[in-house]
Amino acid sequence: MTDLLTENIHRYCKEHTASDNRLLSELEQYTWANEDVPQMISGQMVGKFLQSIIRMIVAQKIVEVGTFTGYSALQMAEAIPLHGEIHTCELMKKHAETARSFFDKSDYGKKITIHEGPALKSLETLQVGNFDMAFIDADKSNYLDYYKRCLMLIREGGVIILDNMLWSGSVVDPNDDDSKSLRKTGDYIQEDTRVFNMLFPIRDGLMLCIKK
Ligand SMILES: C[S@@+](CC[C@H](N)C(=O)[O-])C[C@H]1O[C@@H](n2cnc3c(N)ncnc32)[C@H](O)[C@@H]1O
Repeated sequence: MTDLLTENIHRYCKEHTASDNRLLSELEQYTWANEDVPQMISGQMVGKFLQSIIRMIVAQKIVEVGTFTGYSALQMAEAIPLHGEIHTCELMKKHAETARSFFDKSDYGKKITIHEGPALKSLETLQVGNFDMAFIDADKSNYLDYYKRCLMLIREGGVIILDNMLWSGSVVDPNDDDSKSLRKTGDYIQEDTRVFNMLFPIRDGLMLCIKK
């Protein structure tokens, strides 16, 4: 497929997917205008995929690894019930502050708690078996450890979604550390009999794992 065709198909998919509300669009624009690495934001297609899973499994408690400017956390907060909770982990103070400023402007922001610091430490403080869903979207070197811990945190029938599992296709023939780590995580999940998994080629690859 040519790049132009891929671009047109991607645009068509976005135009035929539920739209973002005003604040989510504002946050996306803010991120592209102000952040050094704005492409870390997941975007509408991933956001609405997360919302779809939340609606399907009626998720109420969610853990997220990698807040950035808060876009995916806000997407998920919109779809969970009023009493639901999102626990999101972020290493960088700057990102946590940006995210908080947008959460404060949202009707759904009160559902979100930011855990600042290295995610592996924050995940240790959360209660095992207490979550319906996990979204992993932080440093690629720790993906396998995030997956292992999140599998403990979610209940039976709960779901883990890992972003960037295609890493622009470099996982097919991995040469750098991040690609190798993502390939190792993908291979581990594929052999993990505790989950039913499927890799969706949405954006940069979304791995869906359902805990048996
Ligand atoms: C890809 S971005 C997250 C994007 C976000 N989920 C979204 O959809 O907009 C990854 C984030 O993980 C954070 N991060 C990197 N290493 C981390 C670590 N060890 N612990 C917690 N957060 C980390 C980065 O600072 C960055 O904000």
